[in-house]
Amino acid sequence: MATFDIKTYLKEKRDIVDSYLKSYFSIPSEPSVLHEAMRYSLFAGGKRIRPILALASYEACGGDPEDIIPQAAALELIHTYSLIHDDLPAMDNDDLRRGKPTSHKVFGEAMAILTGDALLTEAFYMLSSIKVQSSKLKAQSLPPFNSPLSKGGHRGVTELRTLNSELILKVIREVAMAAGAHGMVGGQAQDILSENSEPDRDTLAFIHLHKTAALITASVRMGPILAESGEDILTALTKYGENIGLTFQIIDDILDIEGNTYELGKPAGSDERMKKMTYPALFGIEHSRQKAKELISKAIDALKIFSFEANPLRKIARYLLKRRV
Ligand code: IPE
Ligand code: IPE
Ligand code: MG
Ligand code: MG
Ligand code: MG
Repeated sequence: MATFDIKTYLKEKRDIVDSYLKSYFSIPSEPSVLHEAMRYSLFAGGKRIRPILALASYEACGGDPEDIIPQAAALELIHTYSLIHDDLPAMDNDDLRRGKPTSHKVFGEAMAILTGDALLTEAFYMLSSIKVQSSKLKAQSLPPFNSPLSKGGHRGVTELRTLNSELILKVIREVAMAAGAHGMVGGQAQDILSENSEPDRDTLAFIHLHKTAALITASVRMGPILAESGEDILTALTKYGENIGLTFQIIDDILDIEGNTYELGKPAGSDERMKKMTYPALFGIEHSRQKAKELISKAIDALKIFSFEANPLRKIARYLLKRRV
């Protein structure tokens, strides 16, 4: 078997997601500033780790990733919206994101809020795409408002394959739960409520499991759900998702201290400035790193039900521990 290079794998998958998103957002909409603001944040960069996890877990379950590109890409819309809102003056008050001035710095606060709203809503439209081209997939972009094409009610390109609508519905419910009050938004709310408080184990775990691990777990679970895998596989991948999800935020907290603004593309030291409840604040950097290592071992251990088909997931887990960005 050819040697597997994680960097090449991540780039290949990122390119697939990006070309779908580029095509999807290539058709202008009115008002143009809203469209421009969506594109600005979406295409500023970003690792695309959530869509990549969905594609990799679907592949581990025997599926062809090309079949679920809209569902995977929709996760990036939700994530990007969460970053735009996270950076607002009322939240973390950050000026830099993905190496560029934050949305509210460029477009103003009102437009940044609305851009987040638009991306979140569009994500559910994208998630509900039932008809996809299974290979060389072209995005099904929305025709401009008022265009005769927009009357069709769907995004018209040749459609070759129909996804199972019951499975899509399951995924929509799953992602809604992970993104909303019971998941990411709940975690973000507790993160804000906990600023300036003495860190404690339970609150910290709640924040990180909700604000970050929930959407990451849902991204991983998208694979087995759409592939109709058995309970044992779903359970194994859920465990993998939760462990890498928590690790992801612990490493993010560590990078906020050890990384530099230029490399991160977002302001280092933001957590200290905002007196956030973080892993390093409670446990120190070394202990936090040790915890992250243990979680990654647990994540990889959960994959023992799989053979080589889960190698990308194993490599992604190791990469998440070592990442510098
Ligand atoms: C940053 O997410 C916010 C967290 C949930 C920790 P990413 O590190 O995935 O950011 P991008 O998408 O690569 O910019
Ligand atoms: C944010 O956590 C998690 C989200 C759901 C956006 P952070 O506030 O630590 O993310 P960064 O460091 O600004 O990317
Ligand atoms: Mg935050
Ligand atoms: Mg932040
Ligand atoms: Mg952070």
